[in-house]
Amino acid sequence: MTAAPIEHAMATAPAPAPIPVLELRGAAVRVGGRTLWSDVDLTVQAGEFTAVLGPNGVGKSTLVKTLLGSVPAAAGEIRVPNHTRIGYLPQRRSFDAGVRVRGIDLVRLGLDGHRWGIPVPGLNRARRRAERDRVEAAIEQVGATAYAHRPIGQCSGGEQQRLLLAQALVTRPSLLLLDEPLDSLDLPNQSAIAALLGRICREDGVSVVMVAHDVNPILHRLDQVVYLAEGRAVAGPPDQVINSDTLTRLYGAPVEVLRTADGRLVVVGVPEDCRSCGTCC
Ligand SMILES: Nc1ncnc2c1ncn2[C@@H]1O[C@H](COP(=O)(O)OP(=O)(O)O)[C@@H](O)[C@H]1O
Ligand SMILES: [Mg+2]
Repeated sequence: MTAAPIEHAMATAPAPAPIPVLELRGAAVRVGGRTLWSDVDLTVQAGEFTAVLGPNGVGKSTLVKTLLGSVPAAAGEIRVPNHTRIGYLPQRRSFDAGVRVRGIDLVRLGLDGHRWGIPVPGLNRARRRAERDRVEAAIEQVGATAYAHRPIGQCSGGEQQRLLLAQALVTRPSLLLLDEPLDSLDLPNQSAIAALLGRICREDGVSVVMVAHDVNPILHRLDQVVYLAEGRAVAGPPDQVINSDTLTRLYGAPVEVLRTADGRLVVVGVPEDCRSCGTCC
């Protein structure tokens, strides 16, 4: 008589509502006296993989900067709770062959800003050890151990990108903001980095918000996409957003989404002002 009601209560108790790592509600952004986009709604939960898509110049990088807090919202709300720790990889940086900073030192730079306080010898040693462990763990997480001690300028594009990713991961963020991390990588490296990001989401529960020029390398790993165009945005599962009807409505002009035999999406017929988006043109 005593056990049954308890079991019942446990079975039917509603699961606590998940707390998003970020939320945009009716958000708008102005830069240089111009509204880039408005009415953007987006919710990202823990462990979700979200792509930000759209033509060049539409405001994708600016969206990432609003999430970082470096560009304010002109309207609406952008909520990134205090418990959300952000790791950020800016739009493609590359290193000349002559750059001698080692990968491991580059990753350690990601810890800067976490070293405050008065130096205390014993404590410093412990802190240094903890930092070293974190740097090693981040390098291991991206599979860069074999070349982390090489000068970054001597690493390939894919190796450099892994080390930059390790730099963004070294503070153990709960939200990773990546601005076109696959840009200028060859196809095998694009797939490898996409697989790595998928694993970071699934296994480590990190949310990834990634600006992408071409959605195809990450398509089957995505939980949702945000497609920006014509100063507006539509967010949702990839199938519900990247289709002819939704994009035609968003662009206000006929747009067709085709699926190739190998499952890639090709968006055709986007208006003139989208000149060089690799996803669609
Ligand atoms: N601080 C700024 N002041 C004025 N214009 C800006 C500023 N930042 C970005 N822009 C402009 O806003 C537009 C969107 O930029 P961006 O977010 O970089 O686009 P995307 O990443 O989608 O290519 C561009 O036309 C860019 O020149
Ligand atoms: Mg950009």
